Amino acid sequence: MAERIGVLVIGERPDTRSALAGFLMSGPALRVVGQAASCADALPLIRRLRPGIIVYEAHTADPAELRAIWPVAREAPYASVIVVSFFAGPEHLREAMAAGAREYLARPFRAEQLVATVQNVHTRERERRRYQIARGLPVLAERRPRVITVFSTKGGVGKTTLAVNLAVAFAQETRNLVPVVDLDLHFGGVSMVLGVHAKRPLSEPAGKPGEATFEWVEKCLVRHPLNVAVLALRGCPGPGPPAVLRVLDLLACGFDVTVVDTHSAFDATARAALDTSDLIVLVTTPDVPTVHNVGEGLAALTADPRRPSEKVRLVINRAGPRAELTPRVIEEYLGLTASGVISDAPVLVNRSVNRGVPFVASHRFSRVAREVRELAVELLREPTAPSLGGPPWRPSAL
Ligand SMILES: Nc1ncnc2c1ncn2[C@@H]1O[C@H](COP(=O)(O)OP(=O)(O)O)[C@@H](O)[C@H]1O
Ligand SMILES: [Mg+2]
Repeated sequence: MAERIGVLVIGERPDTRSALAGFLMSGPALRVVGQAASCADALPLIRRLRPGIIVYEAHTADPAELRAIWPVAREAPYASVIVVSFFAGPEHLREAMAAGAREYLARPFRAEQLVATVQNVHTRERERRRYQIARGLPVLAERRPRVITVFSTKGGVGKTTLAVNLAVAFAQETRNLVPVVDLDLHFGGVSMVLGVHAKRPLSEPAGKPGEATFEWVEKCLVRHPLNVAVLALRGCPGPGPPAVLRVLDLLACGFDVTVVDTHSAFDATARAALDTSDLIVLVTTPDVPTVHNVGEGLAALTADPRRPSEKVRLVINRAGPRAELTPRVIEEYLGLTASGVISDAPVLVNRSVNRGVPFVASHRFSRVAREVRELAVELLREPTAPSLGGPPWRPSAL
């Protein structure tokens, strides 16, 4: 599947923005995901649309104007800023680079030159990331998301499969134990996908939020040799939302990253986890009923300020040439840029699920494993969304 590059255009004048957008759209792999008149206007769009490239038009000869780029470069370390200007000169260039730009293109230029520049910058950044992944070097943002919940309003889209394989990829990346909380209270499948026997521990103390301690939660974790550990809530007599929040808060304090697998219902338990999560991985498959269903789910999800769309990361699972919908159509329908597109790999994935061996470990170099590992790095690299309203409940002390 050809990789598409989402580009955001920042420029004061609407006619310049349209001209740049027109140039960019002439590149078959490029997609203009949004436009903004200033860097300040661009920030909320960047959080929501997560462009890989930002094209900034410097419209004055004053190099100080370029300092406005810094908040954008700081907000989106995963995006590369390219400055274009008629006023190119050593001072302008120096200021652009100091403010975090990756490339500078003097106007006038032809559409092909802009497209080629965007593609070069993107290829270099991707190579850098892959190089670091391949060598186990850290590619992480300083402010990492700590609790990542995998969610969908549709069943059978691959939530559990992704949650487990993402957790293994996070463990590989962070070299630390990654807990996976199985919040699917009816059909919890994390233990099966990991091939472990989970205990049924979380009845009493977790039912009384004040009583759960980190040591106790740690004891309930069922460890797996791949440096992940399952915390199964299945079968527990009603671990209510306060208990879920308590457990997630304790895990967030003790571990780099915690993954939460949910079921498809948008009930109080799932909402508690979603409210307190730093990131919500919203999973869809590329077919009309699922995308429609997930669209409704997204609206319900983001209706609450504790779950702003900035927290949501779209993942399209089971994509491929035979899929009913392309990633582009899904992104446009849902108004979100996909953080990951995971290929349909029925033979490999089903074998992995049936044997209880995550494919990210057993078939490390398969396409689907690579895609999940790239998604894991992408999720870890991101700064966490600003908390709008905060979780409804926090443990008083650890
Ligand atoms: N990328 C994929 N390619 C092929 N099959 C997949 C993929 N992801 C998941 N599946 C299959 O889809 C089925 C449902 O996955 P599961 O993770 O249990 O979904 P959910 O937790 O959303 O109900 C499983 O049989 C799994 O093997
Ligand atoms: Mg599941």
